[in-house]
Order: sequence, then C-alpha cells, then structure tokens
Amino acid sequence: MNLLRKMPVDDVLDRSRQNTLKRTLSATSLAGFGVGVIIGTGIFTLVGVEAKQHAGPAVVVSFVIAGAVAALAALCYAELASAVPTAGSAYTYAFATLGELFAWIIGWDLLLEFALGAAVVSRSWSGYVANLLDLPPEWFGEQATVNIGAIFIIAVLTVVAVTGIRGSSRVTNVLVIVKVSVCVLIVVAGLFFVRGANLDPFVPPAEPAESGASIVDQPLIQAVAGLEQSVFGIGGVLTAAAVVFFAYTGFEALANLGEETKNPKRDLPRGLLGSLAVCTVLYVAVSFVLNAMVDYREIDEGAPISAAFQSAGAPWVGVLVGLGAISGLTSVMMVELVTLGRIGFAMSRDGLLPRRLSEVHPRWGTPHRMTIAISVLIMVLAGFVPITELADMVSIGALSGFLIVALAVPLLRRKRPELERPFRVPLSPWLPIVTALACLYLMSNLDVFTWLRFAAWLLLGLAIYFFYGRRHSVLVGRSKDEGEAGKTTD
Ligand code: ALA
Repeated sequence: MNLLRKMPVDDVLDRSRQNTLKRTLSATSLAGFGVGVIIGTGIFTLVGVEAKQHAGPAVVVSFVIAGAVAALAALCYAELASAVPTAGSAYTYAFATLGELFAWIIGWDLLLEFALGAAVVSRSWSGYVANLLDLPPEWFGEQATVNIGAIFIIAVLTVVAVTGIRGSSRVTNVLVIVKVSVCVLIVVAGLFFVRGANLDPFVPPAEPAESGASIVDQPLIQAVAGLEQSVFGIGGVLTAAAVVFFAYTGFEALANLGEETKNPKRDLPRGLLGSLAVCTVLYVAVSFVLNAMVDYREIDEGAPISAAFQSAGAPWVGVLVGLGAISGLTSVMMVELVTLGRIGFAMSRDGLLPRRLSEVHPRWGTPHRMTIAISVLIMVLAGFVPITELADMVSIGALSGFLIVALAVPLLRRKRPELERPFRVPLSPWLPIVTALACLYLMSNLDVFTWLRFAAWLLLGLAIYFFYGRRHSVLVGRSKDEGEAGKTTD
C-alpha cells in the first residue's frame, strides 16, 4: 500500500544544506526566543479558567506536571531536530523516519494545534482588550455571542502575515522582556494582596459534576474506568494539567532553529530546557499568586489577572498587566500564523495538499492562499467556540504529535544508526517510551468530547490523505521514475 514510504533522510538533509542559514544563535538567545513564543494565553487566561473549573489553587501543581511532560518531549524533539535539521518541523522528521502516513497525521495535527492555538489566543486577547477598554461583553471576551474582538485581531494579523511584513527581531526581543516583566510584576505586586485563606483547601475535594453534565464531559480515563463523574480532586488536577499543557506549546518552533544554532549539540537542548524551566517557574509563581489573591470560585474567566488586581484595589497594576498581555498575545498569534503557513506550505510542496495552495505570491513572497484559507477557518472558530473547548483540542493535538515524535527517536536510531546526532536523548529507548506514555496519560485526562472531536479531525485527515494526498505525493512520481512502485524509498 506504500503508506510507509519515506522521504529519504539524505534528501531532507540536502534540502536543508541548500539553505545556507547563518549559525548565529547561542543557548541564551534560543532560550529568549523560546520564552517569547511560549508565554501567552496559558498563563494570562487558562490559569484562571482551569483553577475555577477543575483544579482550584492546585492548578499550580498542574503547571508543574505539564512542564515536566513538555521537558521530556523537548528532549526527543531536540534529538530529531539536531539529527535532521530542517525548517519543516516534526512533519518532516516523520516523513523521513516513520513514513508518509505518519507524516501526514503529524502535519494534520500540527495544523490543528496552531490553527486552534491562534483561535484560543485571539479570544484571550479579546478578553484583555475588553477589560482594559471596558468594551461590551456581548462582542468581546468569553461571554460574547460572537467574539468580534477575536475575529478582528486574526483578520489584522492575517493581512500582516500575507503581505510579509516581518516584525524585526528587536521587536520580538522587546516583547519577550515585556512578557517576563509582566509575570514578575504580577508576582511581586500580587504578594501584597495574598490571603492565605484563599489557598485553603489547596486541592478542593472531588465533587460530583453539575447535573446536566453528560458522559462526554467526563475525562476519558474516568469514563473508561466507569467512575462517577466528578470535578476537582486529584482527577481535576490531572485534567487541568492536560489542558494547561497548552501553556507550554510553541517550543517546537525552537527545535526548528537547529540550522541556525552555533553549537546545536550543546545549545539546542540547553535553549529548549532553559526556556521551559524559565516558563515553568514563572507559571508556577503567577498561578500561585493569582490563587492566593482570589478565591478560585470568584476568578474572572476573561482576564483573570487584570481583574484580580482591580478587585484587590490596585487597578493600575491591572492596566499594566493588561497592556503586557495584549502585546505578548499578539506576538504569539503572529508566530502561530506564520508557522501555519510554513507547515501547510511544506505539506503542499510534498503534494499531500493541493500544490496551488503553496504557490507563493509574486510580490509578497508568502504562501498567501494557504494563509488566507486557514485564517478564515480560525476566524470562524475564534468567533463562536469557547476558549476551553479550543484549548482542549490544542492540547490533544500537541500531545499526540509529541507521542509520535518520541517514538520516532528510537525508530530512527535503529534504522539509521550512522546518522550524525549532535544531541542524543539520554537513556533511549526508555526515556522516549516514558515520554510517549506520559503524553498518552495526559491525553486520557481530557474529556470524551475532546477525544471524539479529535477522532473526527483525524478521520477527516485520513479521508483527505487516502483520496488525495496518497495519489499526489511527490514520492509517487519518484517511485515510478525509479521503476520501484510498491517499494519504500528509504
Ligand atoms: N503557549 C502559548 C500560549 O500559552 C501557545 O499562548
């Protein structure tokens, strides 16, 4: 069936050799870039939603668990990224190692992750703008019927992405400083308003889910075990960990910079783990302070941190936090839209999506059709679907992608032991296996409805692959040319 035909690793390496990118990045600059793409809605909005709905103050623990799984996944990513350095991300590694079908699934997952990720961030952006400017809740924030604010910001950024105006790296650096300073400000200023009583109980005891909640709202693992449907308790902490995994997504963008790193063997893992460590510390500190300032039942879901300072009687801190969040979230969306264009471009160049989609605009030099098509989808989702539902989907998409990436590490070692690996995951295959299991376990803590939607997304993807991609793949022509139809190309 040729489903596992592979893109020869040497082709991928050749392609990347043609890109003569300068090796200028150090571990510190990588970590700075990482923090810039990672910090966003997860800490500015989801922290409040998850404390209120699933974990209470123990959302702090959820951030630690999610950070640990992200660090494991980052190690696996670092090995593949340094062995097969390419700008095409996990999709390309999978094409070279596991075969076309898995590559398609990862690429399809990545589209889900980044498209829905942008939708989540745009809703979070809308919530903070509404809070800052006191805009009508029926058009902005989580209570909106149609979230005009979210649609507006995606439309604006799509124009920016399509016309190829790039923010200079100086702007990105400034935004990183703004985001980190805002997190530090929240922690320092927040400490003045801490009330110990708000942290008690730290892990609210499990309680039955609201009447009216159906089995699809229950975490898969609880449903499979036949447990009574509940929220909070240890189960709630794990569910929140799976959802706030969202807060760490984005570090993959860093793994794509292997070709631009001075000493990838040393600096890539340092940069990846360093940025995750900085984010974990900031996330834990911010989530702790927020929960110590406000009773988790009273947390505002649209702009939790600004609202916490407003009700504590320090509205000016709320304004500063709001401004920082708005600018930080804008940069996250920008990276997501550009990344989406690149992934879609790579899939279409390989023939798995219609090639017309990857045609580059003659003047702007961007894959405009791809970007506009995806942006329209994002706007529809951002306009109507609540943030939590979207974030669940991003988490399941990201975790399933990391699961495949983890498995690809030992597989590639067996198939291509001679390949130069500037960075090697310690204790392979055990560490990659533990990573894959940890991803699967976190996924099982997401609700049944999320799994059903994810299954529907995968089925749609498989249908597109079988009816379109498989027949139009670049490898079809190649195996015919070589008179090798039916054989894998590795
Ligand atoms: N990690 C990014 C965020 O939290 C996607 O917004």
